[in-house]
Amino acid sequence: MNQAFPDTFLWGGATAANQVEGAYLTDNKGLSSSDLQPQGIFGPTIERNSDNENVYIKDMAIDFYHRYPEDIALFAEMGFKCLRTSIAWTRIFPNGDEQQPNESGLAFYDRLFDEMKKYNIEPLITLSHYEMPYGLIKNYGGWGNRQLIDFFENYAKTVFTRYKDKVKHWLTFNEINMSLHAPFTGVGLPPDSSKSEIYQAIHHQLVASAKAVKACRDIIPDAKIGNMLLGGIVYPLTCKPEDVLKAHHENNSWLFFGDVQVRGRYPGYMQRYFQENNISITITDEDKQWLQNTVDFISFSYYMSGCATTDETLSTAKGNILSMVPNPYLPSSEWGWQVDPQGLRYLLNVLYDRYQKPLFIVENGLGAKDLPDTEGNINDDYRIQYLNDHLVQVGEAIKDGVDVMGYTSWGPIDLVSASSAEMSKRYGFIYVDRNDNGEGSLERRRKKSFHWYQSVISSNGKALKK
Ligand code: BG6
Repeated sequence: MNQAFPDTFLWGGATAANQVEGAYLTDNKGLSSSDLQPQGIFGPTIERNSDNENVYIKDMAIDFYHRYPEDIALFAEMGFKCLRTSIAWTRIFPNGDEQQPNESGLAFYDRLFDEMKKYNIEPLITLSHYEMPYGLIKNYGGWGNRQLIDFFENYAKTVFTRYKDKVKHWLTFNEINMSLHAPFTGVGLPPDSSKSEIYQAIHHQLVASAKAVKACRDIIPDAKIGNMLLGGIVYPLTCKPEDVLKAHHENNSWLFFGDVQVRGRYPGYMQRYFQENNISITITDEDKQWLQNTVDFISFSYYMSGCATTDETLSTAKGNILSMVPNPYLPSSEWGWQVDPQGLRYLLNVLYDRYQKPLFIVENGLGAKDLPDTEGNINDDYRIQYLNDHLVQVGEAIKDGVDVMGYTSWGPIDLVSASSAEMSKRYGFIYVDRNDNGEGSLERRRKKSFHWYQSVISSNGKALKK
């Protein structure tokens, strides 16, 4: 492939604390919303206290908390320029409302960032990836409570101050638009909450995100801070104008978050949506001022696309964007997620046309069951194909003139799935010996895709095949 990727392109991988670290109560860590969802973000929420033993897959995950030096060395061997991960808020403020941070939690991330620095791997750090202190849910009612803005701001300022010399790329909330589909995970509210309650909580989170942007600029002037959206394009199922308009509305339902975080105000179509759906939320003049602290860049995940139709007899597709119907022209993964590399080029263009801000693809990948052959090798050609095809389209978008900062594939090492808490839904270039029952040695092993990604990075994309 011709040179498309700039020399500064940040190649790497992306993980999240609750899906890799384990050590869920170690060094004074508090219980998080994620610890209460052992079956994943769409599963039931369970009661737990801090005396529980390790009983669920996520409690130990892949034990990155103790094995990170080995894992970072493997990422470095692939040539990573960047690693996206998150800080577990509950390691820093175990219940969320403490006055003083937990030193042992802060020290862990110092060690982690120092290890990355050894190999010149740039950290890209999410402040909150699908988890929040359970104490803030139990004692304050989650993000429905305005006080959460202050707790989050305090947490953000604490980590910006501590890591200001080590971390120059930050993200606020992972897939902030996901709260519409998974309110407990996103905003700490019960799944049967009303639309008004959910949008009010989202509003508090949007203000908190803007306050974090301001704090980051004040504390680390040479850093860049972005938002993070669950991206995915919705096509009209037919060219019927009704379907086209439905697809437009579906896309706006998630682009709304980008509009607020990039343009600094609520768009007109949302005011109309709120009115027509009897959604009433409180937005103060001060909130409006805060929202004007907009992000430096836009990051997003991309796994799939889907279609919108006004025909209600058609069933909805499986996947991470729930109100879509399958596209008859696209294949699907084993989990029913439709594979659409060209959709990524299209989405990059849509976002760049709309916002004219740098874009960062911070998640993309194929969850698949990997079966080692008789010699224990994992020949994951299907994953290589998926990633190759998506990266070719990223190259095309760059040639279209889109400013793309980097690409971090999801789960460069096998980790626990967010939606179903399975180990067997694997995304990695590195295999981890652990199964869905929690059995296995946790040994790390290079897959075929490990060597492939290494060649893509070392050639700065020239090894990709069109
Ligand atoms: C994204 C999340 O939605 O998709 C990740 O930010 C998640 O946390 C990823 O792991 C893939 O989804 P899953 O359910 O296959 O783990």
